[in-house]
Amino acid sequence: MNILILGGGGREHAFAWKLKQSALCEKLYVSPGNAGTVSMAENVILNGFENIGSFCLDHSIGLVIVGPEEPLVNGVVDYFYHTDLLKHIPIVGPTKAGALLEGSKEFSKGFMEQYHIPTAKAFKANKYNKAEAIEYIKAMNLPIVVKADGLAAGKGVVICNSYEEAEAELTDMLDNDKFGEAGNKVLLEEFLDGIELSVFVLTDGKHYHILPTAKDYKRIGDGDTGPNTGGMGAVSPVTFADAAFMQKVEEQIVKPSIDGLLKENIDYKGFLFVGIMNVNGNPLVIEYNCRMGDPETEVVLPRLENDLVELMLATHHQTLHEHTIIERPGFCTTVVLTSGGYPGNYDKGKTITGLQNVVDAIPFHAGTINKNDNIETSGGRVIAVSAFGDTLNDALAKSYKAAAAIDFEGKYYRKDIGQDLLNILL
Ligand code: AMP
Ligand code: GLY
Repeated sequence: MNILILGGGGREHAFAWKLKQSALCEKLYVSPGNAGTVSMAENVILNGFENIGSFCLDHSIGLVIVGPEEPLVNGVVDYFYHTDLLKHIPIVGPTKAGALLEGSKEFSKGFMEQYHIPTAKAFKANKYNKAEAIEYIKAMNLPIVVKADGLAAGKGVVICNSYEEAEAELTDMLDNDKFGEAGNKVLLEEFLDGIELSVFVLTDGKHYHILPTAKDYKRIGDGDTGPNTGGMGAVSPVTFADAAFMQKVEEQIVKPSIDGLLKENIDYKGFLFVGIMNVNGNPLVIEYNCRMGDPETEVVLPRLENDLVELMLATHHQTLHEHTIIERPGFCTTVVLTSGGYPGNYDKGKTITGLQNVVDAIPFHAGTINKNDNIETSGGRVIAVSAFGDTLNDALAKSYKAAAAIDFEGKYYRKDIGQDLLNILL
């Protein structure tokens, strides 16, 4: 069958790479894709739901995978479900109502409270209860987490070390439009002290499977310092997420989340990404996302031995219970190469060299573009180099060897991906 992937980052390259391994995959399209997806798919530019829909009809698309959150939050899945000619086409991703778990932090907090899913205590602030919100801040322990309700390109969470800072942040978001509409509502949240991991659930709305666990490294600098980024590297599996911990995750978080979606009559056929803090051995939800993570996908999909097309179709047909997830043993790691200056301003159009010297690793492209027979940088996160190993150290050594082999002006990467987990292992 012909398949369309929406998105153009490292996550979507990893999806393309994995889907292409299936005998069921004929022609693969990616919109907009990048210089990496070109080698296994045709890149197309589709703007707007109507354009996506007519492309699917014209090209006999039998499966659509939605990579990023934006089209989901904007209702691309609802558009397919409600359009007569498109409703038969399997599309993987939740409806707009389900995507609200990521699109509104107030909604997701309310959902967790309603279904008794462990999470940080929070106050839901808005323009009308601001005085009460300020009183709430004064009664909180430091640090205080201030979160804009809506999508804010990964920048909407501010960790404040003083009451003054928290109050100023609240005012900036509510009154000064710091994040535009996304900050019309704000969550004031208790700070969770622990170690984070990403848990990915694939659900067809009735059944679910937990995919391999992963850990992301969000800050720009070694030792988790500096500003937040989209993600600078990832490892799978997460060594501290042992069977006992994952049982708590499943019983306390995954099951009630899927049951809650059913009870709310929310049509959710897709990936649910649960950001979890391990606080003294207990899992608490930091956030939900309605999609796979990036760069986590670049370590999760390589460790999945199942035929991904089969799993995606089972998600649509609500037959996931007929499948078992098969995880490749050992480790997969990825190191993200970024453009100098990222996550602030960075240059584009730098020629990338050395890709032909990458052995024993998979370079998943993110911000790359083909130009004049060259591959050039076109984004902040440029390439995620993923590698397998029997041990975490083996995988990291291969990822880092590949990271060194690829070059472009201003190349930067973190040198400590996975190091915290190695320390736990010792
Ligand atoms: P988000 O944009 O929701 O992914 O949040 C960004 C990052 O902020 C998370 O990955 C956490 O590292 C951190 N964070 C968010 N909420 C909390 C919290 N309640 N306690 C501690 N850290 C948090
Ligand atoms: N890596 C975190 C995210 O995809 O949101």
